[in-house]
Amino acid sequence: MKKITTLFAILLITVRLSLAGEGMWIPMLLEQLNEPEMKSMGMRISAEDIYSINKSSLKDAILLFGRGCTAEIISDQGLILTNHHCGYGQIQRHSTLENDYLTRGFWAMDKSQELPNPGLSVTLLIRMEDVTKQILEGIKPGMTEAERAAIIKANTGKTEKQAIEGTSYNARVRPFYYGNEYYLFITETFNDVRLVGAPPSNIGKFGGDTDNWMWPRHTGDFSMFRIYVNKNNEPAEYSPDNVPYKPKSHIPVSLKGVEKNDFTFVFGYPGSTQEYLPSYAIEMITETENPPAIRLREKRLGIFDSYMEQSDLVRIQYSNKYAGVANYWKKMIGENRGIRKLDAIEKKQAIEKQFTEWANADAGRAGQYGKLIPAFESAYRKLNPISEAETYLIEAGLGVEALRFAYSFNQLAEKSKDKSASADELNKMVTQLKSSAEGFFKNYHKPVDRDVFASLMADWVQHQDVQALPEMVARQAIVYNNDFNTWADELFAESLFTDAVKLNKFLGSYKAKSYKKIEADPFYILAQSVYNHYFTNIQPLSQQIAMQLDSLQRIYMQAQMEFQPNKRFYPDANSTLRVTYGVVDDYYPRDAVFYRHYTTLEGIMEKEDPSVYDYVVEPKLKELYNTKNYGRYAAKDGSMRIAFIGSNHTTGGNSGSPVLNADGQLVGVNFDRNWEGTMSDLMYDPDQCRNISLDIRYCLFIVDKFAGAGHLVEEMTLVE
Ligand code: ARG
Ligand code: ASP
Repeated sequence: MKKITTLFAILLITVRLSLAGEGMWIPMLLEQLNEPEMKSMGMRISAEDIYSINKSSLKDAILLFGRGCTAEIISDQGLILTNHHCGYGQIQRHSTLENDYLTRGFWAMDKSQELPNPGLSVTLLIRMEDVTKQILEGIKPGMTEAERAAIIKANTGKTEKQAIEGTSYNARVRPFYYGNEYYLFITETFNDVRLVGAPPSNIGKFGGDTDNWMWPRHTGDFSMFRIYVNKNNEPAEYSPDNVPYKPKSHIPVSLKGVEKNDFTFVFGYPGSTQEYLPSYAIEMITETENPPAIRLREKRLGIFDSYMEQSDLVRIQYSNKYAGVANYWKKMIGENRGIRKLDAIEKKQAIEKQFTEWANADAGRAGQYGKLIPAFESAYRKLNPISEAETYLIEAGLGVEALRFAYSFNQLAEKSKDKSASADELNKMVTQLKSSAEGFFKNYHKPVDRDVFASLMADWVQHQDVQALPEMVARQAIVYNNDFNTWADELFAESLFTDAVKLNKFLGSYKAKSYKKIEADPFYILAQSVYNHYFTNIQPLSQQIAMQLDSLQRIYMQAQMEFQPNKRFYPDANSTLRVTYGVVDDYYPRDAVFYRHYTTLEGIMEKEDPSVYDYVVEPKLKELYNTKNYGRYAAKDGSMRIAFIGSNHTTGGNSGSPVLNADGQLVGVNFDRNWEGTMSDLMYDPDQCRNISLDIRYCLFIVDKFAGAGHLVEEMTLVE
């Protein structure tokens, strides 16, 4: 009996292990490192079907969307799918009070109605290559960090240049494993990307910031765009003559859905993780950086909120800013809780102790690695106060919109003083600033910024010693006797940079000597002082320590690999294309609470509250719910599935990534993680970390039945 139990326990453990989803893997190494495991978990396609340079593969349909999201090509006419929150900025920019696409949604009923988005681009990976040897050529032991960096820079430049000679591609070399390896990425960028469709916010952002980072989730977080190219199917700047892109490959869409334990993988652009830091770094992030950032953001959000509630215009102006500030605010809260619950710092400390013992057990190793952990400790002790000052500067100082805006006039002021500058140069700058001012004031409400200013300055002065404050902040606090409201009133009334009319007039008659007026502006003076504080008192010190830490971290990475030779190490996310895989899975977030792996339309009806902005349900959606008019998009049990969770290891940047089944067909769109698992950027816990995906059937149901844009579904390759 005992024997059977042990055997059973071992079996259970192995099953559990093979379902674990930790890791963000390099597509070109899948065959070598991951394919057997992926197949054992149920995958029916091959690593070559995912990434190949010899034949078309799934990678030809995966895009970096804008600067920080992923999108995928889902038709042979260049139709692409991403999240609503990834296209949010574009949808917002097309929205006005009369044409409020944010609230009502937008659907192009034919291609002529698709809307161009200047500044938005998508990027396709052509191929990648391990170039470690070339990049590290000439590096010798004992070189200083600066010498090393210079050689790497030169080698990188040469490698990138050679790689794209005679092509219209771009090339970029990126470090992996803290500079122990280097990979080259050849990419193609498309600049004519048009908005095709977005659901109304009460679908695309259902649950809003209240449900953000949480499970159970009911957000229809998707939007659609289309890539346009010139007549030769090549990337081109926007032109009405451009035509839809014909991709090398597009992803088939499955209507079969997923069930618990089904294999899934996520293919996209995770932004950044830091899984191999020492305990001191985790302590600094969670104890020194996150708490003030959380508190300062909370203050800003409270002020945004009170004004957005009162005015539709302010709501449109600040919705995107609100989402941005709220997102990381909530993430940091979750991360801190997760780190504590996981005892992550203690776990790292225990490993560090074992590591040092292992290092010191051998004379050779002792010399190489024996002093690493103490070196980290002393570097982080020095970095702590600097990073605290930096957190305040970013979250309090740069939290003021007019302050950042005022500083953007710095170059104009400098150029104007430069006698050798031509009138032409100045005019160009002025024209540019006029247009940036227009953009700034379109989404600016002075009373919001004024209240934010008073609140953030008060917090900054209260929590930081005088030496850690920018000179001007410290001085004005004394002048105004800590009456931040009076300071705010006077500053916002006097400055050019808080008043569209005054600023326009000023720019309209700008002459070289007008720089004096910029330099005399109280907001400009304050902004100068804040930025100078950063450039003279913070950045040089933090850079110096960062350089030291880079070198320690590079050695520590290599050492960890030697110390745990049986562990499979994956490189931290760095905004390059990765594959992560796991299974559809539920979890227990806390004692006695169980979370199922999927949500349904019933849950939307449960959450409905017409009096709360985030929980309004569209009448049309209710009608479809009441008549159960789900068509072919219903699950086998007749329900409408909204979202599902799994153990795929994802992070910021993975939003919009395709979630694929064992056959490489699209079953979902990744858009978030659960709150209990947001510490996965620092330490992954297979028990608690889940990625949240939109069920593709809900997306198609909304496009087809709700929006009446079935022609888009017709474009796709459906697998029923
Ligand atoms: N938490 C998701 C991610 O990190 C979605 C953020 C956008 N939504 C929001 N309510 N702010 O990006
Ligand atoms: N919502 C995130 C994104 O925008 C995804 C995540 O952090 O899990 O990329």
